Amino acid sequence: MKILVTGANGQLGRELREVLEAEHPGITTYVSRNELDITDRAAVEQYLEQGDFSHIINCAAYTAVDRAEEEKLECSSVNIDGVTNLARKADELGIKIVHISTDYVFDGHSYRPYTEGDKVNPLSVYGSTKRKGETALLGLAPDSVIIRTGWLYSPYGHNFVKTILRLSRSESSLRVVCDQIGTPTYAADLARAIVTIVFSRQWTSGIINFSNEGVCSWYDFAVAIQRIAGITTCPVRPVHSSDYPTAAQRPPYAVLDKSRFWATYSTPIPHWEESLAKCIARINSNEQ
Ligand SMILES: NC(=O)c1ccc[n+]([C@@H]2O[C@H](COP(=O)([O-])OP(=O)(O)OC[C@H]3O[C@@H](n4cnc5c(N)ncnc54)[C@H](OP(=O)(O)O)[C@@H]3O)[C@@H](O)[C@H]2O)c1
Repeated sequence: MKILVTGANGQLGRELREVLEAEHPGITTYVSRNELDITDRAAVEQYLEQGDFSHIINCAAYTAVDRAEEEKLECSSVNIDGVTNLARKADELGIKIVHISTDYVFDGHSYRPYTEGDKVNPLSVYGSTKRKGETALLGLAPDSVIIRTGWLYSPYGHNFVKTILRLSRSESSLRVVCDQIGTPTYAADLARAIVTIVFSRQWTSGIINFSNEGVCSWYDFAVAIQRIAGITTCPVRPVHSSDYPTAAQRPPYAVLDKSRFWATYSTPIPHWEESLAKCIARINSNEQ
């Protein structure tokens, strides 16, 4: 087995490196955007031809959800064309792909967690390009696995947990939306799920949902971050999305049904608060 991780300097890529090197050391090549730009078709083809890889884990993506409303071309070029480049060559060479997609492919008007087969209707440029990337991948390389996830955070990069910790130190109070519901996903848990999928005896292609267990609003998430971090000096106030306009529209309800993951891999998934505590402990120990 020889694995290629693309987009390796992002928050998921960096967590994957830690899990893979701890559990299966020395079999993975990690490439950042500088080393392999997935939008460069010739570079992708040449890299894959020379690499003798059995698997690609694609962590490369355009992820700036609000900026994407202005930068449609840049967003499509990574999330659709880049995925197409990987898919075309990987299928030709018999390389299996694990790709990551998002709960933002849904419009969030459901009243129960979304299954893999539910109707998609993205509300944003980001969600729409991620959906087109899914379709392109399954069309060109049908043996691929696509993991839909949401609300990713880790000690690395930019994410909600780090933003709340930072703002709680500089602001006197915070306003956080209480009418968008989802499940925070610790990137380290997603990385472990990916490793489970890649090293499982049964390779089950198609779309599969993964997030942590449980459900909350962004407001509940912010309150939990402060409680676990011991922050008492900066109250969090709940506000409605209409009071906090953003360039991109987000689904009001983005909870994913994980029955397929449970049934296929029988691996326990931690509750989001348990994993949040682990992540905050890591952030604190990195700061010391
Ligand atoms: N973050 C979330 O809340 C969330 C939620 C649901 C799904 N997801 C999905 O989960 C996956 C991982 O997300 P993440 O949070 O780890 O994202 P991230 O931290 O933004 O990392 C994405 C990485 O992709 C790289 N990249 C961008 N364009 C590239 C290109 N043309 N060629 C190669 N690499 C390129 C970026 O490099 P630079 O740093 O140089 O730009 C960055 O290192 C993505 O597919 C994302 O859509 C994320």
